[in-house]
Amino acid sequence: MTRRTVVIMPGDGIGNVVLPEALRVLEAAGFEADWVEAGIGWDHWVNEGNPLPERTVELIAEHRVALFGAITSKPKDLAASELKPELRDRGFVYYSPIVALRQRFDLDISIRPCIAFPGNPLNFIRRGPGDTIEEPPVNAVIFRQNTEGLYGGVEWTDPPPEVRAALATHPKFARFAEVPGPDLAISTRIFTRPACRRICEEAFAYADAHGYSSVTICEKPNVLRETSGMMVEEGRKAQERYPHIQLWETNIDAQMMWLTKNPEDYGVIVAGNMFGDIISDGFAGLVGGLGFAASANIGREVGVFEPTHGSAPKYAELDPPIVNPIAMILSAVMMLDWLGEKEMAERIRTAIAAVIAEGKVRTYDMLKLRGGPEAIARGAATTTQMTDAIIAKLG
Ligand code: NAI
Ligand code: MG
Repeated sequence: MTRRTVVIMPGDGIGNVVLPEALRVLEAAGFEADWVEAGIGWDHWVNEGNPLPERTVELIAEHRVALFGAITSKPKDLAASELKPELRDRGFVYYSPIVALRQRFDLDISIRPCIAFPGNPLNFIRRGPGDTIEEPPVNAVIFRQNTEGLYGGVEWTDPPPEVRAALATHPKFARFAEVPGPDLAISTRIFTRPACRRICEEAFAYADAHGYSSVTICEKPNVLRETSGMMVEEGRKAQERYPHIQLWETNIDAQMMWLTKNPEDYGVIVAGNMFGDIISDGFAGLVGGLGFAASANIGREVGVFEPTHGSAPKYAELDPPIVNPIAMILSAVMMLDWLGEKEMAERIRTAIAAVIAEGKVRTYDMLKLRGGPEAIARGAATTTQMTDAIIAKLG
């Protein structure tokens, strides 16, 4: 393989615990790379007034591939009060650096595989006919639009007069026309056709490449006619090139109601930003939760790979560390896939599956223990032991 350069951003809290573990696994699997460390997160906010320093953005622009751990976010006012004294009152406003990264590099596609590993005690089980217990083989991959929709950031409390005037051109705004400004909050849900088209086309291409027999557009077009409607339209067009893959259309509310009824029926699922956030957390909960939930943020040129979990500050300083490194390792495996290192990616996935199936090494979450230093005495593996076990299975 060619030697690569990968930007690594451990960030805050357990990001600093799990990211180095993923690098150990990549190196043990034979991935050759120069790791270029870049800063992101709370320390940069406190000391520079900017959680996403410009030099980090430049490094990502240069190398185009990054691994990200997690960051700590706090509400605006609390964030402002933690700024170092000489930076206060200089107009710095806290923002989420990961949302900013997605927008800055147009990382418009978030991929979140929710695939159950056989033998994981956290897998969802349900009652079957009679007194049987079933463990459905969940294998869903959520494609979440990552840059638009309700998280596009176009919102106001007390909107300016031009906005009110524009809204007044819509007959349905009449009901709100007399609401005083300070009592009127508006968040927009903007979808663009190119973004809808791209996520639908990428979802079908992924389904085709990975042998999935269906793509589900999970939106709410019966009510959100314009935005959800556009996504459904583009889904139907994308499907024309893949006649062997079925297109299903579901509503987000019904999909969540059926979540535990037939999750094994779904393959690739496409949704806008908000519904994609909801449905991916829902499915992740069926296959082990935060210790297993990996994700990729993919643009046309840049890919950033990160576990879904946050910085879990209460576990950040534990020595030995107890958190599950698998979500981060699986995110790094998604990076390998994206870089075309399929064989290496498959070897690591197989090693993770073998450790889980064997069941000898389990972190506290897998044992359903309360987190904390005492989890080790109760039989939980440390973070490092889990990584070592995976490396030992690489063969
Ligand atoms: P969190 O994901 O950090 O932790 C929630 C709980 O999930 C933890 O207390 C722990 O019980 C469990 N958990 C998380 N990761 C785990 C792992 N690898 N293995 C085992 N158990 C794990 O979410 P929380 O506590 O709501 O937020 C903590 C901080 O992280 C906040 O500042 C929040 O803003 C930030 N955050 C950052 C994200 C990111 O960097 N993308 C995403 C979510 C939250
Ligand atoms: Mg979420």
